[in-house]
Amino acid sequence: MSVEREQWGTRAGFILAAIGSAIGLGNIWRFPYAAYESGGGAFLIPYLFALLTAGIPVLILEFALGHKYRGSAPLALAKANPKFEWLGWWQVFVAFGIAVYYVGVIAWAISYTGFSLTQAWGADPEGFFFGTYLGLAEGGLFDFGGFRVGILIPLLIAWLINFVVLYSGVRKGIELANKIFIPVLIFMILAITVRGLTLPGAIDGLNYLFRPDFSAIMNWEVWITAYGQIFFTLSIGFAIMTAYSSYLPKKSDIVNNGFITGLGNCGFSLLAGIGVFSIVGYMAHASGQPFEEVVTQSLGLAFVAFPSAISQMPGSPALFGVLFFLSLVFAGLSSFISINEACVSALMDKFGASRKKVVPIYCLVAGVISLWMATNAGLFFLDIVDHFCNSIGIVFGVIFEALLIGWFFKIHVLKDHANAISDFPVGGWWPFTIKFVTIAILGYSGIKNVISDLTTPYGDYAWSSIIAVGWMVPILAIVLGVVLSSMGWKNREVLRD
Ligand code: ALA
Repeated sequence: MSVEREQWGTRAGFILAAIGSAIGLGNIWRFPYAAYESGGGAFLIPYLFALLTAGIPVLILEFALGHKYRGSAPLALAKANPKFEWLGWWQVFVAFGIAVYYVGVIAWAISYTGFSLTQAWGADPEGFFFGTYLGLAEGGLFDFGGFRVGILIPLLIAWLINFVVLYSGVRKGIELANKIFIPVLIFMILAITVRGLTLPGAIDGLNYLFRPDFSAIMNWEVWITAYGQIFFTLSIGFAIMTAYSSYLPKKSDIVNNGFITGLGNCGFSLLAGIGVFSIVGYMAHASGQPFEEVVTQSLGLAFVAFPSAISQMPGSPALFGVLFFLSLVFAGLSSFISINEACVSALMDKFGASRKKVVPIYCLVAGVISLWMATNAGLFFLDIVDHFCNSIGIVFGVIFEALLIGWFFKIHVLKDHANAISDFPVGGWWPFTIKFVTIAILGYSGIKNVISDLTTPYGDYAWSSIIAVGWMVPILAIVLGVVLSSMGWKNREVLRD
């Protein structure tokens, strides 16, 4: 039985979906803060370096892999070499780990869209967020304390939207959703940025964001942060882009699409950074507080500092708040959908099952685990799972990808494939960045991360918590990788197609 693979309707549809996956919560809450923390304007140097030497090259690799072998990450890797399949499952499991906490942040953003109407956080946004809204547990990760309805309902709404989109398929679901979400999102961020720039104090905020602290460039940590941010933000190393490009028609551009996606995403990050920091600058100006006190930590930036800024907004704070949190919701949903599709496509390929069967079962299982986010311990769950998915899951997902494809596979096969169909070809720099630069820098940071996570408990959490939901990510990723790759493919035709 030959296998018909779903396809994107148009090239623009694919690019919008890829950019929609890349642009996510990471661009709005992670990027501005990472830049601010790591040398301000000087951060842009390692960030752009990471984009060009690892981000876009790995993006092109995943596009070429998914397109040539027409499969989700495990299938495409298995077709390249059956011994590589485990890595596809590793990446899928990391995507799963991200999905179950990512949805929680979308849920918060949905709630805060509503709260913006009346500025429900009142005079104490910090107490409101951690206390009234999250009801943060005293007892840590296992101190659930029952469900928080205010989080549970928007969480279920986010799952429902994701379910409907994935159930409707690649063209009628994912492509259509992104065609709506992305233009609206860009419009909203533009409106926020223009408004932000016209506020008094905006320029101080921008000075803080871009004030180059060149000593930061000499600091390795800053480079590691830049590389980490690039992989998360481009959605590479966790099975998404391979799955998305497997739905491209045979004659499709690979290289150009890689550049458009990579540069489009980073352009958006800059725009969002400018918007966010001009508003934070206004807030420091209006409240007379020093800037450092206004910028707390990354999540605090979106859910504590921003609400304060909204309350102090001249004109229509409600409209402004709705625009900001709705843009988080839209950016988050388009990425969330792609994270889940990475898992769904792998399960469909492996078990020869239809989308209509896989999507409900997958959403149910992932949905139940994500309920942790709707308890008093949600923030702890997010913090630990996020840390391990990034510092170990994605980092090693990319290291092994670059290692296996770069050194244990004829990488020129993918290069020739991409060049044969792309508007402009990639030269010798492309395999070089994969085989040397990506492996050297990520290898260094990966080993450092493992040592530090083995010797110091991340975030001072109890070791039991760190093992339960932190180390569990790489352990399960490897166990599932080995077990699933030892099982056959239900419909062996997919291996030949
Ligand atoms: N690329 C997505 C983000 O930045 C996952 O949030």
